[in-house]
Amino acid sequence: MNFKKLDQYTELYGVVGNPVRHSLGPLMHNAAFSQKGINAVYLAFESDDIEGAVKGMRSLGIKGMSVTIPYKSSVMPFLDEIDPLAREIGAVNTIVNNNGKLTGYNTDATGALRALSDVIQVNGKRCVILGAGGAARAIGYILKKNNANLMIANRSAERGKALSSSLNATFIKLEEVKDVEIDILINTTSVGMSPNIEFSPVSEDVLKPGMIVMDIIYNPKTTRLLHLAADRGCRVVEGIGMFIYQGADQFRLWTGKDAPVDVMKKVVEEYLYKS
Ligand code: ATR
Repeated sequence: MNFKKLDQYTELYGVVGNPVRHSLGPLMHNAAFSQKGINAVYLAFESDDIEGAVKGMRSLGIKGMSVTIPYKSSVMPFLDEIDPLAREIGAVNTIVNNNGKLTGYNTDATGALRALSDVIQVNGKRCVILGAGGAARAIGYILKKNNANLMIANRSAERGKALSSSLNATFIKLEEVKDVEIDILINTTSVGMSPNIEFSPVSEDVLKPGMIVMDIIYNPKTTRLLHLAADRGCRVVEGIGMFIYQGADQFRLWTGKDAPVDVMKKVVEEYLYKS
């Protein structure tokens, strides 16, 4: 922690959401500021008034905010500018305060792409996203933008079809996933998340050797889906990667500096998996 250095020049950052006390943002970003010798601190703000929170950000000169559930869409009207990617996804998870002008960005999408790009280029690949919520939308949008061949599989056909048509993707039923050729499979549903760690959103027969399988769940570190995938000879991408990279992209937007991703990952992993 960098509390010893707090003084009249310390810059303030934070996360706004409700609930927000579970957020790992403070741990991750304070470690990053400290590592880079930046005189800044990052706090969690639990608020039931997003408009008021944005006004407070302006009047107090808070330099940057993460935005989380339930405000990723509802915050947008209160900002001065929205980055085109965030505008098209319809969600903002990052606000940058540049001398009083507030701009909204979406680093959930760029973070997911970075995590995948560590193992594969998505261009031209057959990608299946499991789920049709906000995370599926952000990831699906950036995959399409990078010329992936995108399919969406979802339990509710109505929701799945709505997202597929808005992303210009193909809808398939969950039962059909085992019948399609897949290069990259991404789970954005909550199936397998702690404490329900014994569940997988798809059965083993979906998973083929050489397939890339990514889960955005990072607790547990290795979900049941990823265990099954590894056993079947797939390459797995753990959810912690996307989580750290969305934070790293925020750090870059706020400070103009490359984030110390190794340090960020280490503190989050120590907290989540070694306690
Ligand atoms: P987020 O915005 O965080 O992505 P969300 O909007 O709550 O989350 O979406 C959760 C996704 O997980 C949905 O696609 C949901 O499927 P439905 O649209 O059919 O509800 C999916 N999901 C949640 N629990 C599931 C389960 N037990 N089996 C299959 N899909 C599930």
